[in-house]
Amino acid sequence: MRPPDPDRAAAAQTFYSRWAGVYDRLARRAPGIRRLRRAAVAALDPAPGDTVVDVGCGTGANLPYLRERVGPEGTVVGVDFAPGAVGRARTLVARAGWTNVSVCRAGATRLPLADADAVLATFLVGMLPDPAAAVEEWLVGLAPSRIALLDLARSHRPPGRPLNPLFGVVVAATAPPGTRDHHDDSPARVLDRRVAAAHRTLLDRCSSTDHETRAGGFAYLSAGGR
Ligand SMILES: C[S@@+](CC[C@H](N)C(=O)[O-])C[C@H]1O[C@@H](n2cnc3c(N)ncnc32)[C@H](O)[C@@H]1O
Repeated sequence: MRPPDPDRAAAAQTFYSRWAGVYDRLARRAPGIRRLRRAAVAALDPAPGDTVVDVGCGTGANLPYLRERVGPEGTVVGVDFAPGAVGRARTLVARAGWTNVSVCRAGATRLPLADADAVLATFLVGMLPDPAAAVEEWLVGLAPSRIALLDLARSHRPPGRPLNPLFGVVVAATAPPGTRDHHDDSPARVLDRRVAAAHRTLLDRCSSTDHETRAGGFAYLSAGGR
């Protein structure tokens, strides 16, 4: 796996800490976002009592949906490397009084966790320099029965394709430093490549896989079992 660039990782952590408040509102209230999160958790399909890891959990927008599925006897662990995002997610958990949900500060690779029944990563892999290796590491290191990825990338579908230039502008304007490391390529193309690599790895390495696009083809949802 490509070693993480410490400067870039630090810049991304600062970015997501500084913008945690704004991101949190978008992550919960952007049009259609709740439906996408519900679809991702439904595709992951955790059972009551399961242990689920939400990698790159951000401000915790997936945690309520995961907690609902695993119930009070299950366990949900959110992991993120940005202190500001982790702080917000922990506040959410404390306010809800969920004693079986925790949030730890760690990198998405070399997770400080032994195993999990299910692993979810939403809007994360586009930020990772080697997303295929990260998915591989989650599959081997956590040995989950189920894994699901939800990401945004440019659309290949007729309703969304005409909007790709606009999507590219938004990606370039909002890309955290980790997405801007290919100076010879646009942030949208880097995002496309990373999302494709991660989803391809999941679909190649898992059985009973599902893949679908939503939101005009801009949202890519893949899930599989082991
Ligand atoms: C676009 S946000 C998505 C957050 C959340 N999954 C959601 O659906 O709202 C990406 C998150 O991934 C985290 N992140 C990016 N690279 C990471 C890494 N290498 N290790 C851990 N967290 C990372 C960022 O701090 C940020 O909170």
